[in-house]
Amino acid sequence: MNIIGIVLAAGQGKRMKSKLYKVLHPVCGKPMVGHVVGVLEQLQTHRTVVVVGHGAEAVRGYLGDRAEFVLQEQQLGTGHAVMQAEALVGSEDGLTVLLYGDTPLVTVESLQQMISFHQEKGAAATVMTAMMDNPHGLGRIIRDEQGRCVRIVEEKDCTPEQRAIREINSGMYIFSNRKLFEALSQVTNNNAQNEYYLTDVIGILVGKGEIVEAYCTPDWTETLGVNDRVALSEAEEIMRRRINRKHMLNGVSLIDPASTYIGADVQIGADTVILPGTVLRGRTVIGEDCEIGPQSDITDSVIGDGVTVNRSVLQEAEVGKGTSIGPFAYLRPGAKLGENVKIGDFVEIKNATLGDEVKVSHLSYVGDAKIGRNVNFGCGAITVNYDGFNKQLTEVEEDAFVGSNVNLIAPVKVGKGAYVVAGSTITHDVPSNDLAIARERQTNKPGYAEKIRSKFLAKKQAKQEK
Ligand code: UD1
Ligand code: CA
Repeated sequence: MNIIGIVLAAGQGKRMKSKLYKVLHPVCGKPMVGHVVGVLEQLQTHRTVVVVGHGAEAVRGYLGDRAEFVLQEQQLGTGHAVMQAEALVGSEDGLTVLLYGDTPLVTVESLQQMISFHQEKGAAATVMTAMMDNPHGLGRIIRDEQGRCVRIVEEKDCTPEQRAIREINSGMYIFSNRKLFEALSQVTNNNAQNEYYLTDVIGILVGKGEIVEAYCTPDWTETLGVNDRVALSEAEEIMRRRINRKHMLNGVSLIDPASTYIGADVQIGADTVILPGTVLRGRTVIGEDCEIGPQSDITDSVIGDGVTVNRSVLQEAEVGKGTSIGPFAYLRPGAKLGENVKIGDFVEIKNATLGDEVKVSHLSYVGDAKIGRNVNFGCGAITVNYDGFNKQLTEVEEDAFVGSNVNLIAPVKVGKGAYVVAGSTITHDVPSNDLAIARERQTNKPGYAEKIRSKFLAKKQAKQEK
């Protein structure tokens, strides 16, 4: 079946009071228009046209080749917006699925049901409707005695009786594509708002003797349009619950779903446990049998099976199987950790590859480095990777031991199995299996502590006697 998707996204979205164009506001980390186009992709549309106006370039830039675009220069109404797509898809045979870029909660399942319903009924148009306790501002569905949808009336054009109708127009439709564009050519702007109403197409098709149906969705939230930040937060909450539920049904334990924030594109393996206060963003992929959280914030990272992340922040990091991170670690872009690595408290890793079994247990900075397998970084050992101008590489080969509080001044290399004594500041390469010591030799002065104490005491007494 040939399906043509049309997304209306030309309105300004003034009530968002934002520099960001409305349909680019994210819901669970993904721009609203991305959710909508994603649903059309799942429907396998043959073509997808997005009608853009305000912020056209930004929307185009975000969607790229996922859609074709037409510009609606002036926003003269929803009917006028669809007319802009005529040159591209007006002569296509098949079904039109018409959605709004600011209605991100619609699901592919509902649209599939609506398409089946539309086909069973042999309809020229099917409108998705919902029953609302408060239908304020929305178009009302007028049905005849047989229950057929005969017209949609905008609130501003309603009689008092029509205003009392609770069944509303969601703005989402299925059309026979050719019949849609034929009817659109008859739409005028002769109404309270002087707009070209897409909704008039319904009355026009009925007038031609076509079958028009209304598909009332049992879940009104799918029709939630986002016009301001209050609605945005409502959409966020509903989407979040859906995402969390999906993961739980897939075998992921969320100890407290209400405080767990998982982005729309995040993947998580079965038997992983997510503890409260955790935020998973972007294209993050988490394996099976992990324990993530509490209070961890992970963005665009890939985490293997059986990993523990405790109260830590990860950005564009890769973490191998069985590795444990935190508490209070910070993995920055380019951190690539092998298997069974241990990263402890207050450790920062940036642009560094760590082999399997590496231990960096406390208070270390490892930046711009290549660390071989089974290396031990002592407490407070750091790479000195920046001289104020350039970032330089530190290499530590496998099985080397870097003592506590060592400074590795890059560029520098510690060879395989070498031993760097605690407190050393290493400026030259350490050959394999050598021991490096680079610190002042200690001297002890016998009994001097007692001497120094009496000296200070004498001074104090002299002061008091004055
Ligand atoms: C429209 C429907 C109304 C329905 C409501 C659901 C019409 C005439 N009315 O209301 O029955 O209950 O949606 O939300 O269709 N847009 C454009 N270009 C335009 C005008 C609008 O692209 O010239 C886009 C907007 O960006 C938005 C969508 O179309 O995404 C709906 O526009 P909006 O003004 O919110 O809808 P209404 O016309 O008030
Ligand atoms: Ca709207």
